[in-house]
Amino acid sequence: MRQNIVAGNWKMNNTLEEGIKLAKEVSALLEANKPNCKVVLGTPFIHLAEAVKAVNTDLVGISAQDCADKESGAYTGETSAAMIKSTGAEYVILGHSERRTYYGETNAILKDKTDLALANGLTPIFCIGEVLEEREANKQNEVCKTQIEEALFHLSADEFSKIVIAYEPVWAIGTGKVATPEQAQEIHAYIRSVIADKYGAEVADNTSILYGGSCKPSNAKELFANPDVDGGLIGGASLNAEDFNGIISAF
Ligand code: 13P
Repeated sequence: MRQNIVAGNWKMNNTLEEGIKLAKEVSALLEANKPNCKVVLGTPFIHLAEAVKAVNTDLVGISAQDCADKESGAYTGETSAAMIKSTGAEYVILGHSERRTYYGETNAILKDKTDLALANGLTPIFCIGEVLEEREANKQNEVCKTQIEEALFHLSADEFSKIVIAYEPVWAIGTGKVATPEQAQEIHAYIRSVIADKYGAEVADNTSILYGGSCKPSNAKELFANPDVDGGLIGGASLNAEDFNGIISAF
């Protein structure tokens, strides 16, 4: 069966010292009270190697927030999937709406990033989601379907079974405006049906589909109670160990 996962996305927050302190706090809280789900911390690149050492890796997996769309070479400022893997990190967040919006990441680029992540043994946490205008025009299903189709549906069933999907409606990210449990369940079930149509029911049933967007300790339980919501990708609330742990405790 699919795994429940609560993943933090720190975005561009925390100095090295602050980040390692936070990682240690999260790990200590989980050691004191074992989680009923997989926990992942998505840190900036510079934290990865130290974060792997700072946490109990039986309880916490470490994730990058992006990787290069090239294998290696003269790409100043980029960080490859192989480099991420070499830190001991196990995951990489790909296709976050902030990467798509501010850094021009297209589905074609994300296809290459996904291939490199998988080739290097990283688990992609692949983000999809519609903007407010698309939601208001009731286009959320087709937007999510296109994002998955164009970036992921070239994968074999075996490869696809290594992907974690994160549905993050852009209108809910950092806005305090959270999708209702009904909205989340509806679109998660739809996303699973799209996966089932392509790869069959077994692959779809085994795919973890996380919700992201203003998820907090106060709303996590009712979101995660839905049959097709397998956890969360947490931004702001992952920057505080108690809040993040409060969300993890929803399982
Ligand atoms: P917030 O939880 O701050 O809304 O951010 C969600 C997100 O973008 C996680 O990737």
